[in-house]
Amino acid sequence: MIVKVSRILVTGGAGFIGCSLVTKFMNGSDHNIAIYDNLSTGSKENILPWFESPRFKFIFADMKDNSSLEKAVEASDAVIHLAANPFVALGSNDTKIDFYENLVTTYNLLEAMRKSPDCKKLIFASTSTVYGEAELLPTPENYGPLIPISLYGATKLACEGLISGYSHTFNMSGIAVRLANIIGPLNKHGVVFDLANKLLANPSYLEVLGNGMQRKSYLHIDDCIEALLRVSEIQSDAGFDVYNIGTDDAITVIDIARLLFQRFPTGPQKIKFNDTHEGRGWNGDVREFLLDCSKIKKLGWGAKYNSTQAVGLVADEYLKKYKLINS
Ligand SMILES: NC(=O)c1ccc[n+]([C@@H]2O[C@H](COP(=O)([O-])OP(=O)(O)OC[C@H]3O[C@@H](n4cnc5c(N)ncnc54)[C@H](O)[C@@H]3O)[C@@H](O)[C@H]2O)c1
Repeated sequence: MIVKVSRILVTGGAGFIGCSLVTKFMNGSDHNIAIYDNLSTGSKENILPWFESPRFKFIFADMKDNSSLEKAVEASDAVIHLAANPFVALGSNDTKIDFYENLVTTYNLLEAMRKSPDCKKLIFASTSTVYGEAELLPTPENYGPLIPISLYGATKLACEGLISGYSHTFNMSGIAVRLANIIGPLNKHGVVFDLANKLLANPSYLEVLGNGMQRKSYLHIDDCIEALLRVSEIQSDAGFDVYNIGTDDAITVIDIARLLFQRFPTGPQKIKFNDTHEGRGWNGDVREFLLDCSKIKKLGWGAKYNSTQAVGLVADEYLKKYKLINS
């Protein structure tokens, strides 16, 4: 469907996943791309190469600003909605952030799309956390009941519900992609980024949140972008659909620490566990997940890197960047 449209609005396009997706669209298609971003966690540097292109537009605005959002949607044929609070842990201290940044922003977008005559196609960045601590691993898209254990997961699931409701009621087409942990050199959050930074700042020990046995799937950004492209090419009628996107394996936080120790060989390589939430990193941290990705594989997609390879690659990139900055 999106492959046939020419004007794509990418909310959150100046962020980690968004800027890689926009690069792919700018280099590999002739679509007109507009980014809608308030730069709260994203950055202009991520998208600087495109400012001179007549096919590119940057809209510096917040998704809570309805009139800017309506104008942006009016000028688009389809939306890839990535803007959100990306920090799962924040919700355990601030109960408003996920509600406003995830749910209200998505409602605003859906309202703008309902009013627009042309823009009826939406791809939404959802998350593995909507499954909570599923009893079935790997977890397929039709698993239920979905019992998220974080406000982040809860609001993303609520967004999926809203998108489904709008799609069926107002003749729109919505697809949610439930992403595993996505990692890459431009990542500014998540366990690999946090641990690498801690180790570079203080090689004498590595603080791990939780008992280190949390076991999750880590997908390299390049694989994630290929998967998003496959999904964007689906020719779908009005309605709602869901795709898991992740690796076929999962690794523990301790394994990630080991991979980092191999690459950052200074210091005593000691782990200090900060385990005050029954093994979790924080209240709401899912201890273990693995997504069943057979559905997206039927579209011809497969991850090039497993979780261990992806973490290794990204750790190498961090180290390279760090050495460049400090040489
Ligand atoms: N990175 C992951 O591991 C991961 C995993 C699952 C789901 N996701 C989802 O994918 C999406 C992108 O994640 P990311 O890792 O690239 O995060 P990111 O923080 O790098 O990107 C989010 C972008 O949205 C923008 N933004 C946030 N609130 C906004 C608002 N109110 N108005 C306008 N712009 C706003 C930010 O400035 C940023 O550029 C998010 O929806 C996130 O929840 C990410």
